[in-house]
Parts: sequence; C-alpha cells; structure tokens
Amino acid sequence: MVELNTTDHYYTGESPSLLWEMTISQSLGDGSGAFAQALEQPAAYGRRLGEFLLHETDLPVSGGEIIEVGGGYGTLMAGLLQVLSPRRITMIDISSLLLERQREALAPVAAGSEISFIREDVFTWLARERPAADLMILNENLGDFPTLTGIDKQALTACQAPASAPGEIPPPGELSPAQLAAEAARVIDLLELLAASGVSHIFLCEHGSDTMLPWPFSLFPAIQPPGNHINPRRINLKDHAEYNIRFDHLEQAASRLGFTVRRAHLMEMLRLRFDDEIDYLLRKGKPENEAQEILLELYEHISEYQIMLLTRA
Ligand SMILES: C[S@@+](CC[C@H](N)C(=O)[O-])C[C@H]1O[C@@H](n2cnc3c(N)ncnc32)[C@H](O)[C@@H]1O
Repeated sequence: MVELNTTDHYYTGESPSLLWEMTISQSLGDGSGAFAQALEQPAAYGRRLGEFLLHETDLPVSGGEIIEVGGGYGTLMAGLLQVLSPRRITMIDISSLLLERQREALAPVAAGSEISFIREDVFTWLARERPAADLMILNENLGDFPTLTGIDKQALTACQAPASAPGEIPPPGELSPAQLAAEAARVIDLLELLAASGVSHIFLCEHGSDTMLPWPFSLFPAIQPPGNHINPRRINLKDHAEYNIRFDHLEQAASRLGFTVRRAHLMEMLRLRFDDEIDYLLRKGKPENEAQEILLELYEHISEYQIMLLTRA
C-alpha cells in the first residue's frame, strides 16, 4: 500500500533530539573529540566542508550569502564559520526548539555576519521566496522529507506505459519521469524548487541506498553499507522513521535540471584516516579498547553516506 512517511511530528514536537540519529556532523562535534580521531586531520565537520567547498568551487572566503536548511544544533555552521565569513546567513528549520539551539550555538561565532532564523517548512519557503545565495547546505535532512513508500510495482508499470510505444524498451538508464518521481518524489520536488531559485551551489549529504565505499575501505566486509544498493531502506529512529536516498536518481534528476554534479562518498570529503591501526581494526572487525570501539562505530556508521555538490551550470 502506498503511504507517505513524514517526520514533521517529531521535529515540531516537544523534544526533538539528534542523539538517536548520531548525525556525522554532531558526532565530530568541534573536532576535538574521540570520533574526530578518525580523520587524517581531526576537525569539525563544518570546517572540513568549508575547506572542501573552497577547493571545489569559486565560493568567496568572505562576503556572500549562505543558507542552511535543517541545521540541527548549529554545529555544522559553527565549524563552517572557522573557514568562511559570509556577509549573511539564513538558518531555516521546521523546529522552533532546534532553531533556538542554533541561535545559542551561533551567537558566539557569527558576530561578523547578519544572521536570521526562520521557522518554516523548507518546501513552502523555497516555493514562496525563490531565494538567491552563494551556497545552500542540506545536511542529513533529505531523508526527513515526506517520502512515498510501498509503491506498487503494477502501478509503476502503468505509469511507465505512455512513455514508450507498446513493445518498445526504454533506453538503458533512462527512467521515465513517473519512475523517478515515484521513487524519489521528495527530492525531485526539492531539486525543481532549487533549480527555480537563485542559489549557485548546493551541498547535499545523506544516507544513500546505492553507496559504494571508496578504496581501500571497499576491501573490508566489516564496514560494508547495509541494504541492497538499490531500493531505499527504512531507518527506524526514536518516534519516527526515515528512508535513505537513491543517489543515482538524485544525480540523474539534477543533471536533467541543468546542474553540474559532483558526487562522492562522505569519507572522501572528510578524508578519513587509513593507516596500520585502522587497517588492523577493520580487518579484525573487533575493537580491543574504548578508543577503537569509537573509531569502528564511526567507520561503520559513515559507510552509507554520500555527498553531492550541485553547481548551476
Ligand atoms: C536529522 S536532523 C539533521 C541536523 C543537522 N543538519 C545535522 O547534520 O546534524 C534534520 C533537521 O532537518 C529539520 N527538518 C526536517 N524536516 C524539515 C522541513 N520540512 N523543513 C525544514 N527543516 C526540516 C529538522 O528540524 C532538523 O533540524
């Protein structure tokens, strides 16, 4: 049966918490904790993202405008401000309690920027405002947006029928709009809204259903991503559930909307450590002390994440 999975009730409820999700930006914190020891150069997630963006794009180091959607506790933006000094920051979130946390986290570090906090659903806001900015960040929230689930294969076949003449096989890799929309309804809507906006660079990060580990991490069965590499997986969390994203479809849709796409594993952006200690730990798959237990937990958890950087062509 086709159903719509939503998480709004959780985030607009009385005590939304990121503790249960172990988001990667939250796990790495300010870059000084035990999880950050997994990075070649321990750093906050936002700092590493800023360095990556400066390397990959023409984003200005100072000045410019940045929008962050669903910024959680504000940890990512606080790290990003270690390397970028935007003139203007907009934090948009559906949760007033999390916006309050963002306000507290950013007050001491965003003094040089004009900053606004907007409590609204990102879909409504984007459709109305069609904002312009140098950068928009959506970190670990695509999976929270309304998702069609339990899609019936027969209905999907019926949707496809008009796309090709009877007996004609659609070209390989070319999914019909109905297929794309059905499997990734929320992200297609979002990409269309972003394509109609004036944002130059968009950074996306989320659990992927079709994630392949980069070499040499791909050699270790202990950290292979869960799932079947095709169909989105349901991830059960406290009082809500989300679905991971099929990045192949996201990439196809973004390219068709005219974006230049840079796609990678999150491990590559963060530059995860691979040395004798990690080699031994991943081979054995069993930690011998608390520090190793924390490291292995991070490697296991991060294995499913992909990133995508969209640039207006
Ligand atoms: C899983 S948390 C990720 C938080 C943070 N980006 C991180 O990586 O730690 C999801 C965030 O998206 C926000 N969110 C969920 N649905 C939203 C929507 N429709 N519009 C705006 N924000 C939303 C939540 O309130 C929360 O801040």
